[in-house]
Amino acid sequence: MLKNVKTIVVLLLLSSFGVNAQDKVPVYLDDKKPMNERVEDALKRMTTEEKIAMIHAQSKFSSPGVKRLGIPENWMTDGPHGIRTEVKWDEWDQAGWTNDSCIAFPALTALSSTWNKELASLYGKSIGEEARFRNKNVLLGPGVNIYRSPLNGRNFEYMGEDPFLTSKMVVPYIKGVQSNGVAACVKHFALNNQETNRNSVNVVVDDRALYEIYLPAFKAAVQEGDVWAIMGAYNKYKGQQCCHNEYLLNDILRGEWGFKGVVVSDWGGVNDTKQAIHNGLDMEFGSWTNGLSWGTSNAYDNYYLAKPYSEMIRKGEVGTKELDEKVRRILRLSFLTTMDRNRPFGSFGTEEHALAGRKIAEEGIVLLQNNNNILPINLSKTKKIAVIGENAIKMMTVGGGSSSLKARYEITPLEGLKKRIGNQAEIVYARGYVGDPTSNYNGVVAKVSLEEKRPQAELTAEALKIAKDADIVLFIGGLNKSENQDDEGHDRKHLELPYGQDKLISELAKVNKNIVFVNISGNAVAMPWIKEVPGVVQGWFLGTEAGNALANVLVGDVNPSGKLSFTFPVKLADNGAHALGEFPGGDEVKYNEGIFVGYRWVDKNKIKPLFPFGHGLSYTTFAYGKVTADKKQINTGDKITFSVNVKNTGSREGSEVVQLYITDSKSSLPRPVKELKGFEKVALKAGEEKTVTFTIDKTALSFFDDKKHDWVAEPGDFEAIIGASSTDIKSKVGFSLK
Ligand code: BGC
Repeated sequence: MLKNVKTIVVLLLLSSFGVNAQDKVPVYLDDKKPMNERVEDALKRMTTEEKIAMIHAQSKFSSPGVKRLGIPENWMTDGPHGIRTEVKWDEWDQAGWTNDSCIAFPALTALSSTWNKELASLYGKSIGEEARFRNKNVLLGPGVNIYRSPLNGRNFEYMGEDPFLTSKMVVPYIKGVQSNGVAACVKHFALNNQETNRNSVNVVVDDRALYEIYLPAFKAAVQEGDVWAIMGAYNKYKGQQCCHNEYLLNDILRGEWGFKGVVVSDWGGVNDTKQAIHNGLDMEFGSWTNGLSWGTSNAYDNYYLAKPYSEMIRKGEVGTKELDEKVRRILRLSFLTTMDRNRPFGSFGTEEHALAGRKIAEEGIVLLQNNNNILPINLSKTKKIAVIGENAIKMMTVGGGSSSLKARYEITPLEGLKKRIGNQAEIVYARGYVGDPTSNYNGVVAKVSLEEKRPQAELTAEALKIAKDADIVLFIGGLNKSENQDDEGHDRKHLELPYGQDKLISELAKVNKNIVFVNISGNAVAMPWIKEVPGVVQGWFLGTEAGNALANVLVGDVNPSGKLSFTFPVKLADNGAHALGEFPGGDEVKYNEGIFVGYRWVDKNKIKPLFPFGHGLSYTTFAYGKVTADKKQINTGDKITFSVNVKNTGSREGSEVVQLYITDSKSSLPRPVKELKGFEKVALKAGEEKTVTFTIDKTALSFFDDKKHDWVAEPGDFEAIIGASSTDIKSKVGFSLK
């Protein structure tokens, strides 16, 4: 009796607060209900003002949820390489938190050069955990713009020149991030292949190059990676800003690919309310509108998708259909991220993440040249090591633009070498040249002071002196994250190394023949002294554990297994964009080289690159058997499998990246000489041998027919080519498509 009375009282109380007893959990909060029901339920509870608020920023990196309904804010964070330091609400300056120092992971060029999909997954999982812990629900990365020119200042944030490699690496990265209930936001969609005039340049590209080269990684992100967000690019395509581009966003992304996620603008990438309403954009960030300057407080109401939009609705110039669509997609994002009660909690700045970063760094480092087996450094025969170059002591996690990080720590190459070598050999250091001694970005200042007042002659003399009687010289130079180097907002001005390094390297090579050049960069550089320098290592920007990873490879604790994800040309004119004179263009840039990007250009024009795409050496050797096919002929719809034996013929364990390229012997449209269509990284003990198999179908044989606006596999003869790089071809087998 008493129990019944209690129940009645509770029910009466609830109904007096407007809560229906049968409807205690609103549908939108009930995660057992289907996603679309939850979305519709939340949507119908929202006012137009709440909807408008949700589709544009409220601070530099956040947008409002719906406080009244308990729908959380969305918090974005840069970027692809680590979780950016907290910045002030309205400004780019750091907020001064003391608990936001992250693990810096290797730059994406290093990740793609591992050619290891499992490491891409580890990368995504680890960085996603860091984002989750910091309560960010959208990670602004990874970047998948194709490496068109070695001068693009942001190449280091992308995954190289090949659409197949990039597609295969981006998918596990995304899945790893999103397993944390954090959205990956693939960027910058699309054709953002240079920094010069990035906000205004109109890219003119034919459909074949668009679909075959520049779009596949985005398509894979959407269709295979199920990415929850995409960021529009700054540049224009067909005269329209990519952040609200009818062709790219409505027709291709949503129409052809069926993208269900959120399109986020790049920061300041919106410039037209009408287009932003109608052309596929969902969220506007970073705008500075109508005379408002950078960082002016409360500029948010003036965003294109703020007051100007509500005014248009109020005046009846536009309905609310598009607004509802945008909000639906943002609600879905919330349900997948902040409102997923089962998502993990994440972790931040951990040793586990640092070690994941180190593993990726070690596998990404590429041994480009190793004449006379100068590497690994034989410590039993080495008494004195001369380390020369600014990049041996420079922090590379600071600078470069939005991917700049406040890392918990960063081991420089010199520190890594000293730690690893200890007193097994003497290490002497000389700077050799002065590049950029200022190391700060948005208030994050590198911990090491690089002040240097001595004239160049003195620096050169000092470097030559220590090099002369050393057993080995390690020149650790390359580019850095300063303006016109590997840096957002500016492109490089030339292919040559900056700060007089070429001259210094040549002089050093004259006094000591045992010299190794370690190139710290995210881009190819010219090496006019290549014949004088027996050892060359591509060292990338490797993040927190950079120095440890590099030292482990240089002394041979780790056997290098990275392969280049882009071509190193001898000179700029050996690159298609430059040969045809269209980089960086002016108001417009014409991609006249079409589909012939990277090795596709090199192959077509029979150019000998400095180092080809896919190239990378090991401290062991591999012997390849002859490739075989399980069929001679296939029908459309069939699969065909190629097998090849690979044996480690050296005396130590190592990994080899076996590459499959496909050639179409005859086709109605011009095609590249060959295209990458498969790769596997195999670990082999000394003497061990394994069979590597690749199964492909007609997608690997297809090209984009611009007249039909479709992918076409033409019947005829093809060849499967197995290579250790794009130029080191091991064997071929023919087959045909009926
Ligand atoms: C960059 C984006 C970045 C955003 C936020 C823009 O300038 O192009 O890649 O995510 O800023 O920092």
